Amino acid sequence: ARIAVLASGRGSNLQAIIDAIAAGTLDAEVIGVLSDKPDASALLKVAPERRWARSPKAFADRAAFDAALGDALAGFAPDWIVCAGYMRILGEAFVQRFAGRLINIHPSLLPKYKGLHTHARALEAGDAEAGASVHFVVPDLDAGTVLAQAHVPVQAGDTPEALAQRVLAVEHPLLIASLRWLVAGRVAERHGQLQVDGHPL
Ligand code: GRF
Repeated sequence: ARIAVLASGRGSNLQAIIDAIAAGTLDAEVIGVLSDKPDASALLKVAPERRWARSPKAFADRAAFDAALGDALAGFAPDWIVCAGYMRILGEAFVQRFAGRLINIHPSLLPKYKGLHTHARALEAGDAEAGASVHFVVPDLDAGTVLAQAHVPVQAGDTPEALAQRVLAVEHPLLIASLRWLVAGRVAERHGQLQVDGHPL
């Protein structure tokens, strides 16, 4: 399967995908890495011809940036598009264009803590556990159908950084497992519902 990754930062989730492919545990190829941050280190993990990055500042508005991103993405002809630390909101037209093929990894147990600062919010709330979710992307932020989640305990004295690290450690295997199921056609999303082996869950 052809996987494209949208990333804004360091790209440890992208690295996990690259490592799984190299290890033979994910039958796929990373055909493109696209970013809204031209200096994102994630870009350096693939060959130059597989990179696309533009600053949104160079575009008139969100729709113009999204259209350019979407055209570049379509040029890579991906089967699956993974938002992995992609920190820019995707507009409705973009999401519709790639609906059903677009997933995101989010560092909380959705529907809790959509958006930013998930770990600080989990700690403030006194939650006993935290985690990560892989979900299909819909126009509403972090609101799409959840495909899989992983849980970790919150520990006494946790800081947002310590918790983020513990969650990140489960993000990587969670994302790889999710992609393995998607690539194999075992899970899909139809009309807002998760399908497993062709049947609604
Ligand atoms: C991850 O925690 C991801 O869930 C969140 O941003 C972080 C990205 O990390 N949305 P990386 O760039 O994959 O290392």
